[in-house]
Amino acid sequence: MNNFKIELPTKVYFGNNCVLDALLSEKSRINGHILLVCGCSEASAVNAEKMHTWISSVNPDAIVTDYRNPHSNPRLDDVREAAKQAWEKNVHTIIAIGGGSVMDLAKAVAVAAVSEEDIGAYFGTSKELPENTLPIIAVPTTAGTGSELSKAAILTDSAQGVKDGIRGACLAPKVAIVDPELTYTVPLKTTMETGFDVLAHAVESFLSRKADLYSEMLSARAISIVGESLPLLKRFIESREGITEGDIDPSEKEAREKMLFASMLMGINLYRTGNCLPHRMQYPIGALTDTSHGAGLAALFPAWIGREFEVNRDKVQEVFSYLGYPADDIPTDGREVRKIFYGFLKNKLGIGYSLKGLGVKQSAEELAPQVRGNLKSDILSETPDILIKIYEESMGE
Ligand SMILES: [Fe+2]
Repeated sequence: MNNFKIELPTKVYFGNNCVLDALLSEKSRINGHILLVCGCSEASAVNAEKMHTWISSVNPDAIVTDYRNPHSNPRLDDVREAAKQAWEKNVHTIIAIGGGSVMDLAKAVAVAAVSEEDIGAYFGTSKELPENTLPIIAVPTTAGTGSELSKAAILTDSAQGVKDGIRGACLAPKVAIVDPELTYTVPLKTTMETGFDVLAHAVESFLSRKADLYSEMLSARAISIVGESLPLLKRFIESREGITEGDIDPSEKEAREKMLFASMLMGINLYRTGNCLPHRMQYPIGALTDTSHGAGLAALFPAWIGREFEVNRDKVQEVFSYLGYPADDIPTDGREVRKIFYGFLKNKLGIGYSLKGLGVKQSAEELAPQVRGNLKSDILSETPDILIKIYEESMGE
């Protein structure tokens, strides 16, 4: 058993319609000049407008400058541009309202706005971050990344075609305001792909060498929530196409609440335990194809968990039991694991993807050297040529 400590640097407010009350409780942070980081879509504009209203109710004197993240995979140049604005306007708080890319961008801006060094100096390195990074209030609008509690910001260096991160405890937001109401109108594809990211965090942190009794407890709960709620959401969203927010079934709202809760729980595991191979292997796929993080993970996961069964048999079988599979249906060899997991993705979530289907043109041998970072938390990393094998098995027709 691993020894552990529990440390959560982020204060969390969770619940429907909780944003205004949470901001009132954090009133001391809502003053002076605030940078509001948000997305570029129509839905993001609506959320940004709501945030402006909430901020001015808390403090009408606060001055807010918007930065709209132009890329679904935020780039180093976006960070530089937003940080320049933050620095010029003497911003001392950043509020991020959006999905994982918006929150990750905000984290990097919190560093770049106070650092004398270019953000590129921290990208993909273990260089120590400045201690005076700007405080962040993170408000997620999708259930998936857990970025509101994690200490990583995943970015793309478009000049080099590399996706990697900056990491450090001071990147964890000071406050997370987690309001399921903000996720009710997220469309089907985004709900499924970001929702699968929750499952990926849960399974990877469960199988990680760094797992402990506390992280395993959170993983188990998150896996069972996703196993129950995400297929339910697929059916609800498909059946109510065109129906407005007011008509959403209470059971769908409950499933959204649970998914956002599970996403937040996995933010805790991201902060403490981290991930396994699929997250590292997705980064080159995201950089090459500009497909979503969840889509790349879905393409890689069946082959990975099939291989993981060879080194982590009992825990992989536990994953299937938490997902709701009865004892008789739990797979007993690696090929079966891969096939059943792919069936779950395709039939229950509608995201049975392959790397070729996502637009990958490179061979497994070309992709493998592009995987960066420390892979040791995954025991499978010791298997020779494992990256090539997983990429090959994920290619599809
Ligand atoms: Fe993730």
